[in-house]
Amino acid sequence: MIYTVSGIKGGSGRSTTAANLFVFLEKQGRKVLACDADEQQSFSYFMEVRQVLPPLQVFGEDLLKKLKPLIGQYDDIVIDCGGRDSASQRAALTLADASLIPVAPRATDRWTLNAVYELLDKAQGFNTKLQAFLFFSRTDHRGMNGSAVGEASDYLRPDTAWCRFVPLPIGNRVAYDKAMGWGQSVLEYQPTDPKAIAEITSLFTHVQQAITKK
Ligand SMILES: Nc1ncnc2c1ncn2[C@@H]1O[C@H](COP(=O)(O)OP(=O)(O)O)[C@@H](O)[C@H]1O
Ligand SMILES: [Mg+2]
Repeated sequence: MIYTVSGIKGGSGRSTTAANLFVFLEKQGRKVLACDADEQQSFSYFMEVRQVLPPLQVFGEDLLKKLKPLIGQYDDIVIDCGGRDSASQRAALTLADASLIPVAPRATDRWTLNAVYELLDKAQGFNTKLQAFLFFSRTDHRGMNGSAVGEASDYLRPDTAWCRFVPLPIGNRVAYDKAMGWGQSVLEYQPTDPKAIAEITSLFTHVQQAITKK
């Protein structure tokens, strides 16, 4: 399966999601290619600290050319996209089975959503297998309780068969940042954060099951 972690708002948690997804899939014994499509190179630094093979770096238009020949060699590919509407993000979306889109529940993230939907709609026109999963990331301790759910329904587009809001939020937790710094997923990081482990596992399991079923 090909996963992109995309969206066009900086700091929403894309690279953190990509790194955790990479480890989640590897822990299942799957052969996973990490692909860094963001000039900020957070995913590459993560892999460097992890002391494993560096990801394939594709920052420009040649993503398709570089990635296509490798697809058959891996069970999964995880592409970390940069936080803007770039040629590499567009290309990644035309290949992907799943696009995970972290959305921080804040006005400045919300304001990018129409552009995000536009990008997804265009990509889905070429790539009808694409499924998009928007989820809240970096939520405060109230998570999805109370008003956040209600507010979300005001500004998120209604779900379609291929583009859905997944009510499995990722909290704003120290463990995510600390784990990244050590080149680890929260699934590995000590001291363990059981809430982080539970929420990230629920989200990735949901996405994996949704795209496998198809
Ligand atoms: N769920 C989270 N909880 C706490 N900190 C987070 C979380 N997700 C990301 N961060 C931190 O926020 C910053 C931006 O995250 P990053 O994954 O690099 O975002 P993006 O790739 O979307 O720009 C980083 O310092 C990261 O450690
Ligand atoms: Mg990033």
